[in-house]
Amino acid sequence: MRISIEEAANRLNAGEVVAIPTETVYGLAARYDLPEAMQKVFALKNRPSQNPLIIHLATADLQLFTHSLPQDFTALTQTFWPGPLTLVIPIQTDSVPEIARAGLPTQAFRLPAHPMTLKLLKLTGPLVAPSANISGRPSAVTPEHVENDFGIDFPVLDGGRTEKGIESTILIFDSIWRLGRLGALPAEAFETILGYIPQSSTSSKPLCPGQYYRHYSPKARIHLGDYTQAQVIIGFTDRLYPKHARLITWGSSQNPEEVLMQLYVTLRQLDLERIEEVWVDVDVPQKGLWSTFLERIKKASAS
Ligand code: TXA
Ligand code: MG
Repeated sequence: MRISIEEAANRLNAGEVVAIPTETVYGLAARYDLPEAMQKVFALKNRPSQNPLIIHLATADLQLFTHSLPQDFTALTQTFWPGPLTLVIPIQTDSVPEIARAGLPTQAFRLPAHPMTLKLLKLTGPLVAPSANISGRPSAVTPEHVENDFGIDFPVLDGGRTEKGIESTILIFDSIWRLGRLGALPAEAFETILGYIPQSSTSSKPLCPGQYYRHYSPKARIHLGDYTQAQVIIGFTDRLYPKHARLITWGSSQNPEEVLMQLYVTLRQLDLERIEEVWVDVDVPQKGLWSTFLERIKKASAS
C-alpha cells in the first residue's frame, strides 16, 4: 500500500513500521525512541536480536547521543552526508534504547540523500531502519520488492527505484576507522580525509554483527565462473560467453555503478523466474566498487 509522507509520519509517530526510500535501498523504519515499534521491525524481518540497527537523521547534529565525536567524524560527514555512508561511534548508552544497539555501547548513524525521507525525518525525528527485506534475502530497491517480501498491504512511502541500488558503506571507529561493510562508497574514497584506506578487521569476528549471516541471497544456487556446466550465466554486456547457456547481463564490465544498481533487481528476478542455478562472471578487478560487487556475490553464493 503506497502512502503519503504525512501518513507515513502519523503511522511512525503512532508506533507503527513503514517502509521508506533512501538513495541506497529501501528501509523498514520505526521511531528510534519507541522500543515496541523497533521490536516489530525485528519480528517482521525475522532478524536476529543481536544484529543492531542504523539510526537515520535529517541533520548531522548528534548532540542527542554524544558530546564527543571521534577524530575525522566531522570531515567525513561534511564530505559524504547526505549520502551512502554509515558511521558507527561510541554513544551515551542511555540516549538510545538497548534494542536498537543490540546491547552494544556504540550506535550506527547515517544521513540519507533522499528528499522524501529527509522531509519525513523532520516530522518524526530520528528513525531506525534496516534494509526492507526478510533477513538473508536480497535488499529491496523498488516498492514492489518491499511488497514481495511483506505483502501488498504493507505501508510503503514510494520514492521510486533507489539511485544506488546497494547498501551504504559502514565505517566503525575503534581508535582508528575500520571498514565494517563495503557498499556504495569504495574504501579508497576515504583516503584523502583519513590519510589511510580503512580496512576490515583481520580477526575472524566481523565488525558488523550482520556480516555473520548468510545474506543477499536469492533461492538460486550461485556458482562463480567455470561455465562448462552452466545453463544460465550472469555476465557483462561487453563480454562473450559460451552459446549453450542463457545469458543475463547486469551492465558493462567497465561500469561497476551500473552493475551494482542492477544487482538486487537481477537476483530477485531469478526467484520470480524460479531459476535454480546460475553461473556468475566474477572476473573483475579487486578494487574500488568492484570489491563491493565481489563481496555481495560471495555472500550470496555461500551455502
Ligand atoms: O544503506 C543502508 O545502510 C540501508 C538503508 C536502509 O539505510 N540500511 C541497511 O541496514 O543496510 P541493515 O540493518 O540491513 O544493515 C546494517 C548493518 C548490519 O550489518 C549491522 O550489523 C551493522 O550495520 N550495524 C548496525 N549497528 C552497528 C553497530 N553498533 N556496530 C557494528 N555494526 C553495526
Ligand atoms: Mg540488510
